[in-house]
Order: sequence, then structure tokens, then C-alpha cells
Amino acid sequence: MALLNVFMCSKFSAKPRFSYPRPAVSAHPSPLALPLKQRPEASRKLTLPLTASVSAASLAALLSVSLFVVDPALAFKGGGPYGQEVTRGQDLTGKDFSGKTLIKQDFKTSILRQANFKGAKLLGASFFDADLTGADLSDADLRGADFSLANVTKANLSNANLEGALATGNTSFKGANITGADFTDVPLRDDQREYLCKVADGMNPTTGNATRETLLCN
Ligand SMILES: *[C@@H]1O[C@H](CO)[C@@H](O)[C@H](O)[C@H]1NC(C)=O
Ligand SMILES: *[C@@H]1O[C@H](CO)[C@@H](O)[C@H](O)[C@H]1NC(C)=O
Ligand SMILES: *[C@@H]1O[C@H](CO)[C@@H](O)[C@H](O)[C@H]1NC(C)=O
Ligand SMILES: *[C@@H]1O[C@H](CO)[C@@H](O)[C@H](O)[C@H]1NC(C)=O
Ligand SMILES: *[C@@H]1O[C@H](CO)[C@@H](O)[C@H](O)[C@H]1NC(C)=O
Repeated sequence: MALLNVFMCSKFSAKPRFSYPRPAVSAHPSPLALPLKQRPEASRKLTLPLTASVSAASLAALLSVSLFVVDPALAFKGGGPYGQEVTRGQDLTGKDFSGKTLIKQDFKTSILRQANFKGAKLLGASFFDADLTGADLSDADLRGADFSLANVTKANLSNANLEGALATGNTSFKGANITGADFTDVPLRDDQREYLCKVADGMNPTTGNATRETLLCN
């Protein structure tokens, strides 16, 4: 018995074989809240130096730690040239995305004030709960894009194609320029439609639809 105790003590006091990185999640507020460059990268480069002496318990602990530190941002990849870059939950104020192909790109909850999306291809992109105040979305292909809960105040949607886009949850279009925008099949609340019809004019150069007709204005 004593021998066994000595054996166990020496085993436990032995220098740990592994020193995996501390879960960075607890050391930082939230990996999502940090700009891409500052995110803890070490947590992802966790390698398992598997040897026969790894006990089941320590392996389980190791696995749970590695599960815990999996970068949540990895789950939010979009398409296009920025697909590998995380654009969700970021401050991208004033950033220039003009002319870019950003199909299905995820901009959920991002701050995109005064960002430039002029002529960008944003089919199916998500701007859910994003702040697009003063952003330039003119000439952009926004078919099927999600503007739910987004703030599109003072944005330039001139000649943008929003066919089939979503604007639920009190999306605010106050002060937006919608000259030539196409709102075909965009479900709008009565007060949103009323506001947009007050400022609607022009014809979309791509679809040939009159903005007022796509909004079903009288
Ligand atoms: C949208 O943004 C504008 C300008 O920052 C702000 O005044 C307004 O309150 C916001 N609207 C909503 C619904 O958040
Ligand atoms: C909006 O975009 C159109 C087309 O690019 C441009 O002619 C117009 O000056 C812009 N308006 C504002 C207020 O930026
Ligand atoms: C909206 O944009 C059009 C160009 O598409 C421009 O002619 C018009 O002056 C703009 N309206 C406002 C209120 O800025
Ligand atoms: C929508 O937002 C406006 C302010 O932009 C606010 O006055 C209004 O109460 C909101 N409506 C709903 C249904 O949340
Ligand atoms: C807008 O144009 C598209 C294609 O040109 C057409 O399918 C759609 O029905 C038009 N919308 C309206 C409201 O006429």
C-alpha cells in the first residue's frame, strides 16, 4: 500500500508531459469582440502529443479544453474573396468593399457605417442587425440579402437591386436614397412602405423596373 502511494505520488509530482495553452476565452472578453488580428490563434494550433501514457482522464480533459477553445468565428465563413476573413461582428466602419464579389457574405451585427459597397455583388449576404448608417450600397446586387433589424439610415441604395431581400424587425430606411432601387418581393411593414414611397423615384437600370412599382406605391 505504502509502495503504491509512493508510486502514485511520484507519478503525480512528475513534470507534466503536456502544457496546453490556457483557454484564451477566459483571458479575453470574447474572441468575437476582438479584431481578427488580435484573436487568440494559439488555441487553434492545439496539437495532441499522443503517447501511450496519456490517461483516459487527461485525454478527456484535453479534448474538452480543445472543444472549448474552438474559435466560434470559424463557423461563420461566407463566400467570395472575403470568405476566409471574418466580417461578422466586426467594426468595419468606412471600409471599402466597392465592386467586390461578396455572395452570401456574413456581416451580421457588424458596424458598417459609411462603408463602401458600391457595385458589390452581395446576393444572399446577411446584414442582420448591422449598422449601415450612411453606407454606400448604390448599384449593389442585394438580391435576397438580409437587412432584418439593420440600420440603413442615410444609406445610398440608389440603383441597388434588392429583389427578394428581407427587411423585417424594424429595419430603418430613414434618409436613405432609394432612387432607382428595386424592391420587388421585399416584404415591408406598412410604415416602412409608406416612408419609402414618399421618397421613391427612378428606374432600376438592371431590371428596368420603376422603383415606385416595385414598392407597390399608389
Ligand atoms: C440608426 O442609426 C441612426 C444614426 O446613427 C440613429 O440615429 C438611429 O437611432 C438608429 N436607428 C435604430 C432603429 O437603431
Ligand atoms: C448615391 O449614389 C449615386 C450613384 O452612385 C450617386 O450619383 C449619388 O451622388 C449618391 N448620393 C449620395 C447622397 O451619396
Ligand atoms: C439620390 O441619388 C440620385 C442618383 O442616383 C441623385 O440624382 C439624387 O440627387 C440623390 N438624392 C439625394 C436626396 O441625395
Ligand atoms: C421602429 O423604430 C422606430 C424608430 O426608428 C420606433 O419609433 C418604432 O417604435 C419601432 N417600431 C417597432 C414595431 O419596433
Ligand atoms: C422586376 O424585374 C424582374 C426582372 O426583370 C421581374 O421578374 C419582376 O417581376 C419585376 N418586378 C416588378 C414589380 O415588376
